[in-house]
Amino acid sequence: MSYPILLLLHLFAALFFIGTVFFEVLMLEGIRKRLPRETMRAIEIEIGTRARHIMPWVLLVLYSAGIALAWNYRDALANPISRPMGFLLSIKIMLAISVFGHFLTAMTLRRKGLLKTRHFQLIHLSVFCHMIGIVVLAKTMFYAG
Ligand code: HEM
Repeated sequence: MSYPILLLLHLFAALFFIGTVFFEVLMLEGIRKRLPRETMRAIEIEIGTRARHIMPWVLLVLYSAGIALAWNYRDALANPISRPMGFLLSIKIMLAISVFGHFLTAMTLRRKGLLKTRHFQLIHLSVFCHMIGIVVLAKTMFYAG
């Protein structure tokens, strides 16, 4: 598949994923105090169910397109301290791996019935911070030299 197609797939999947995380942290958390606890819990469960159906596909596209894009920078990645771009891309990839770890943790906790509101909030906040790092690195790494 050509680089521009992979980049578009990666970008659309990233938009979907980042958009969902931003919505959950900035919109949903903002209405938490205004709604009854049970209503909010029901919303979280429904969003979780929907996410379980859609997110694995979004993540499959996001990560596989990302890996295919990164293949073009394998030399820079093989020696990340030789060029700032390779170093920043390595950090971006590490953050992306950490995001995947968060996703697996959330799914495992959910399957075991242990995903409480506090976990839901903490995982979202942590992924939100990762997203900011990933986007800043993705959009600046090529200008770093
Ligand atoms: C949570 C996961 C990820 C998110 C949210 C994400 C997000 C992004 C975004 C927003 C861009 C900028 C795209 C553009 O400018 O059009 C980008 C670029 C890129 N990403 Fe990811 N990414 C993720 C995972 C990965 C992974 C796992 C890899 C590789 C193993 C990867 C490799 C790349 C590469 C090489 C670019 C540069 C493409 C270019 O601008 O030519 N990404 N990523």
